[in-house]
Amino acid sequence: MSAWIETVAEAQRRARRRLPKSVYSALLAGSEKGVSYDDNTAAFAELGFAPHVADLSPKRDQATTVLGQDIALPVIISPTGVQAVHPDGEVAVARAAAARGTAIGLSSFASKPLAEVVAANPNTFFQMYWMGSKDAMTRRIEYAREAGAKALIVTLDWSFSYGRDWGSPRIPERLTLKEMVRFAPEAVSRPRWLWDFVKSRSLPDLTTPNLAEPGRDAPTFFGAYGEWMQTPPPSWEDVRWLREQWDGPFLLKGVCRVDDALRAVDAGVTAISVSNHGGNNLDATPAPIRALPAIADAVGDQVELLLDGGVRRGSDVVKALALGARAVMIGRAYLWGLAAAGQQGVENVLDIISRGIDSALLGLGRSSVHELTRDDVVVPPGFTRALGTPRTPGGPGTPSAPRTSGTPRTPDAPRTSGAPSTPGTV
Ligand SMILES: Cc1cc2nc3c(=O)[nH]c(=O)nc-3n(C[C@H](O)[C@H](O)[C@H](O)COP(=O)(O)O)c2cc1C
Repeated sequence: MSAWIETVAEAQRRARRRLPKSVYSALLAGSEKGVSYDDNTAAFAELGFAPHVADLSPKRDQATTVLGQDIALPVIISPTGVQAVHPDGEVAVARAAAARGTAIGLSSFASKPLAEVVAANPNTFFQMYWMGSKDAMTRRIEYAREAGAKALIVTLDWSFSYGRDWGSPRIPERLTLKEMVRFAPEAVSRPRWLWDFVKSRSLPDLTTPNLAEPGRDAPTFFGAYGEWMQTPPPSWEDVRWLREQWDGPFLLKGVCRVDDALRAVDAGVTAISVSNHGGNNLDATPAPIRALPAIADAVGDQVELLLDGGVRRGSDVVKALALGARAVMIGRAYLWGLAAAGQQGVENVLDIISRGIDSALLGLGRSSVHELTRDDVVVPPGFTRALGTPRTPGGPGTPSAPRTSGTPRTPDAPRTSGAPSTPGTV
């Protein structure tokens, strides 16, 4: 039994000590200069609280609902592909989320089949990208419905950025004997990680079972990534079409502009996640917490608002809720917990965050997460970014290039071994 982990920062340190360097680096991810990655956490630190000292509430309630599901705390698991972190991968994460009464978003690039994850946690949402033909997408939606996914998450913020100033890990397309020999020194230097896989009699699986076509083998991560790169990006009409294919709750993930949020409302989505993909996408996109207040003002109660990016503590969750989110999604925080101590590590991270939420609610004199308001938070001048409004470049009224849907991307071969790309970082 591993010792209690006190903070997410400590979970990160343990993950770093336990994982082979390239696996840790794939989890850290980020893109280009890391401006967005850094801003995601720095922005939370710029926000302050306005606490009370008396008339505090002896009991604090964190329960809420997201995408039609009751959850015990306003934090859900954001979809990530976690191929090589732990042999139980997303199933361990799903069990931990179920044990703490919350939901999991499962990436279509995940290493475990959706049905196994649903069996571990019925509150599972399936995440897709705009990828492949409409027929292929319709089949994936049917697959998600049959496996019992409670909601669909569609992630649209991905622009195939290339490279990181701090270097990207070398990830093989397949774990062939030659690749294993090459990887051996790294793996041997992390005996506890290696032992987890030896005990489970498995190897890190670099395929994507949830993207397999009927009767075919699961594509490799790079095979699937290649299909995605060749897919023409969607128009808002396409988004509306996709939304119509799914008759349950539908979350559009990756919005950071007010005008896009309003278009998402028009397309009929149930929820939006204000997100910059954890700083893994278009670098220099501001932290989502900066973009949240303007989006909250614009969409009001028309959709559920979530936020993800940079959440490392319960106080971050409380800040996001005070500025208009209904709940947050976490990525790296639980990945580090998973790497450090499997299912127990993820439960530990959820407990850290839940205790932090409770402490912040106590200090702010709130008895429930639903009572939080903007007055609870000190927002420094110049903090917020109202992207996509008449006041900002690129906002409505600013001349911009016409949007054409269906323009094919420049075909670009998927990056395989030796090239700086990171499976599990989509
Ligand atoms: C290693 C890694 C893999 C990811 N894979 C996916 C994915 O497959 N689908 C997706 O929608 N988002 C993916 N994301 C983004 C997360 O869902 C989430 O937006 C982000 O991690 C939130 O930021 P945080 O890590 O600071 O909490 C990934 C993020 C990381 C770090």
